[in-house]
Amino acid sequence: MTISRTRLVMGNWKMHGNLADNAKLLAGLCAGAGSIAAGTQLAVCVPFPYLAQASEALKGSAVAWGAQDVSAQAQGAFTGEVSGAMLKDFACRYALVGHSERRSLHGESDQLVAAKAKAALASGLTPVVCVGESLAERDANQVMAVIQRQLAPVLALGAEAVNKIVVAYEPVWAIGTGRTATPEQAQEVHAAIRAALQAIGAGQVQILYGGSVKAANAASLFAMPDIDGALVGGASLVAEDFLAIAA
Ligand code: 13P
Repeated sequence: MTISRTRLVMGNWKMHGNLADNAKLLAGLCAGAGSIAAGTQLAVCVPFPYLAQASEALKGSAVAWGAQDVSAQAQGAFTGEVSGAMLKDFACRYALVGHSERRSLHGESDQLVAAKAKAALASGLTPVVCVGESLAERDANQVMAVIQRQLAPVLALGAEAVNKIVVAYEPVWAIGTGRTATPEQAQEVHAAIRAALQAIGAGQVQILYGGSVKAANAASLFAMPDIDGALVGGASLVAEDFLAIAA
């Protein structure tokens, strides 16, 4: 029996944008979202200061929004952190956790990433847990070992929690490099992630691919059985480019 999962095409703006440019981008998304195939959910993860702008612009549209990180803590003396409850105040649906840029530039551990996923769930957000190997790890044939290690503390949260998350496979060597994983390379890892999820009773979790996704390669990636959508960086900054991926 095949159960069809909804496709999710999510933009990660990273540290890009300003009020004026965002207004144009968000208006473009609202205008184009209606023509996206039924069964595809669109979403954007914007920098914290622009959540109010995004929620105002996207309210009532077919485009959901979220943040690029969330604190593992609920509240308190954690200068610079943003809690899940704060994100819910702005009607966020999603929060990225464990993006490779957070892992590598901010030293986020697998355990911290799982704690962030747990905190997001506790606030009613859907955490998008990012995993992926570096080029050195791929060259050393460690892809599956790295992914299993990154996922282990998340899977330890249990089936009930894991069934409410989204996983994004983003090979570090494909992020911002223009060098996309081939559909076959991505599918191989997605199938392994699916098997790990299946083993704890969460086999229908959405698994997104990320890393230099653009309109030209989206269709062949989406044709793979375990690729349920995309997490898009650079190409999410222009409405037509982002919508073309979803189309
Ligand atoms: P690019 O699409 O720019 O390669 O970025 C991918 C990414 O890191 C999305 O989270």
